[in-house]
Order: sequence, then structure tokens, then C-alpha cells
Amino acid sequence: MSGGVVWGGRFVGGPDPAMMEFTSSLGVDMRLLPQDVAVTKAHARTLVKAGLLEAMHLEAIDDALDELLDGWREGTIAPSPQDEDVHSFVERWLTESLGDVGKSIHAGRSRNDLVATDLRLWCKQASAELDASLCSLLSAIADVAEEQAGTVVPGYTHLQRAQPVSLGFHLLAHGFALARDRIRLQHAAVTADVSSLGAGALAGSTLGLDPEVAAKELGFKGTFDNATDAVADRDFAADLIYACALIGTHLSRLGEEVVLWTSSEFGFASLSDEWSTGSSMMPQKRNPDVAELIRGRAAGSISDLTGLLILLKGIPLAYNRDLQEDKGYVFSAVDRAGPCMDAMASLLKALRFKDEVTLAAASDGPLWATDVAEYLVRSGIPFRTAHEATGKFVGSYDPDAVSLEYVIEGVDVTAIVERGAATSVDERSGPGGPSKSAVLEQVRMLRERAG
Ligand code: ARG
Repeated sequence: MSGGVVWGGRFVGGPDPAMMEFTSSLGVDMRLLPQDVAVTKAHARTLVKAGLLEAMHLEAIDDALDELLDGWREGTIAPSPQDEDVHSFVERWLTESLGDVGKSIHAGRSRNDLVATDLRLWCKQASAELDASLCSLLSAIADVAEEQAGTVVPGYTHLQRAQPVSLGFHLLAHGFALARDRIRLQHAAVTADVSSLGAGALAGSTLGLDPEVAAKELGFKGTFDNATDAVADRDFAADLIYACALIGTHLSRLGEEVVLWTSSEFGFASLSDEWSTGSSMMPQKRNPDVAELIRGRAAGSISDLTGLLILLKGIPLAYNRDLQEDKGYVFSAVDRAGPCMDAMASLLKALRFKDEVTLAAASDGPLWATDVAEYLVRSGIPFRTAHEATGKFVGSYDPDAVSLEYVIEGVDVTAIVERGAATSVDERSGPGGPSKSAVLEQVRMLRERAG
């Protein structure tokens, strides 16, 4: 290896150390060492099947790779500045450990198909780990929703009080949005579940390698359809980051509501001391920083998604070095999503809701107006007429006036006006509605989706 690099042969002068430092991806891609080790072991088996490596060398290769992984984890083995990336580090280690056997390992393989395969393995595992955090969050939402199935709160449109609902119902709306993110994570795992190994630099090789061998070893469901696509494709990474970005967006909306609920203006809830923060200057402050950070971190998830898409959009086929930058986006999106989900689960459990305040808010103002219009409809009045008449009634309604009965369009609606928000909620008992029985059914459904 002239100049100590894996591509040094055609160069007379060695690479400038400054260039090596600039082009190196070691700082980011050492995280792929376990995957690179697994893929290298699998490739050795492909070479054996093709008759290019003797089976008796497999054990030594496996041992050397295990030693490398253990040494790296224990801090006794580290890459050197001549290693451009995790792949050159692994190959140099094998060459230094095993001589010609190590030098044989890269036959029919390029770092282009190698890095794609490593990253696919990593993404598959990351999807599964994120899914586990998401399921815990969904269970936490289901638990709180069940506890709050009968707590009456105002439901909002345009952030104006609209109709009374239950808190459990409202939380479940967040829960079902997040439950759909499981489908996206699973989809990301499916698109990642294709081995790129055997694609070589962009066009396969003359060595008669069977890509199925490594794919099976590595637990991939299938192999690539086209070698150029196999090294150029990062759609699976975009799928995973999209799942993270949408999780971030969903968490952000919930975080925003926690901020609102815990404000003095709403006063619907407070946070336990353990999950509240204070101010370094204003002694009285009690702040929902965790909710704000969850909301703020969604910006990073969305920028990771747009970052990767911008990276991909202009590059010609097949591999371009730009692709080295993909991992930063993938790692940061995944690293952010897990802790945000875990923090949200804790935050929800730390919320202390104030039932009297939420009930008063849901009872203050004519949130019964839609129920009245619907009562008129049930009494045979066309909806538009009922809506208009109720609107007029609401316009002149005085909550402080002592009145014995309210009549609209000849129908006595007193019972509907005075029956209270809790009854209004329980009357809306259709599927997916806010009544207690409907909420408990939704809790059951959410738990099922978290299973
Ligand atoms: N470190 C590169 C990456 O992460 C892989 C190396 C491919 N380099 C090349 N010159 N073909 O994408």
C-alpha cells in the first residue's frame, strides 16, 4: 500500500497529511466497526464459496476481527492517521495480522458496496431500537390516557375552546399519531433490509461472487437488483431519518401543549419538581424546559432529513464522496429521536393535571352550542336552521341571567344548556369519540399497537 492508503498503488507521492485529515471519516464512521467486522466475515465466506479463499483461513479471519472489535471496545486498539475510514482500518488490521490472507479480503469488494452494506445493517438495528422506545412511549400515553379517561378539558380548534372532551381522548390523539410512526420505522427497516455487498465499486466483478452468501450470513432479506443502484442508493437512510423527523414533529406538538398546559395562562397542569427547571435569576420560576427542548430538537430532526435529501439530490450515479456525509445525518437523527421519546414518556408521567381547572375551562362559555344545534336536529329541524338559531341564541345568552327555560325554534333546550360538560363528553360515545367508554376502547387499541 503505497503511502499507507488502500488506493496508493498508482501514486508516486504519498498523500498530504492535511488532505488525509480533511477527507477522513473515521471520526464519524468508527461507529460502524461492528457492522464492518460482520460484513467482512460474511464477505470472506463469499470468497470461500467462489473458490478464492481457502475455508481453513476463515477461523483466523474471524479471530483477528473479533480481536480488533474487542481491542477497540477496550481502548487497546485504535486506528492510525493513515486509515481514511473504518473500512481501511479493518483491512489494514487484517493485513497486518494475517499477511496475504488479509490482503485477499477485499477481492470483488469496494468500500462503496461495503459502506452501503454496513450502513444498512446499522439502520436495521437502529429502527428496531427506536421502535422499542416508541412502544414504551405509547404505553406511557395509554396509561395516562386511561387514568384521565374521565377528566374533562376543553377541546380546541384555532386554539379557541371548541367542545368539551376528555383529557384521555386528547392524549390518545397524540398517541395514535405516534403509533403511525411505528409503521414508518418498520418501513425503514424493510428498505434497509437489502444487502449491497457484491456490487463492487459500481458494476459487480469478474470473480463469480454470489451475493446471496453474505446476505444470508448477515440476515438480510434480499440482495441488490442493480449494482450501480446498490452503491448509490441511500433511500433507506432517508426513510429512517423521515421516520425520526416525523416522530420529532409529533413530539414537538405534544411538547408545545405541555408548555401551554403548564403556563399560568392555562394552568391545566404542573410538572413534578423532578421534571421542572428553575431560573438562575428569577427565584419564583418553574419552567418546562424538557418540553421546550423536545419541541426545539425537532428542528434538528427536520434539518437532518433535508440535509440528506439535499446531499443526494444533485449527485450523479454511482458513488460520489459526498455520500460520506450521509452518516452524520443518520446518526444524529437516530441519536436524537430515542432520548426525546424517553424524555416525553417521563414528562407525561410527571404531569399533575388540575381537574377543577380543566373542568371549569370546559364549562366556561357556550361549549354546549354544538350539542344544542344537534339536539334541534334530533327534534327534526334542518341543521343549517338549527345552527343559525343556536348562533343567535348564543349571541344573546347571558350566563348570569336567571332564566327558567331556554327555547329555540319552539324546542326546549334548557336541559342541554345546563347539563354540564361531563355529560356532553359522555354523549359523544361513537367510535373514536371522547366518551369514557370510547376512550377506554381507544386505550385498548393503542396498547395493541404498542404490542
Ligand atoms: N468513507 C467513505 C464513505 O463513508 C467510503 C469510501 C469510499 N471511497 C471511495 N473513494 N470510493 O462513504
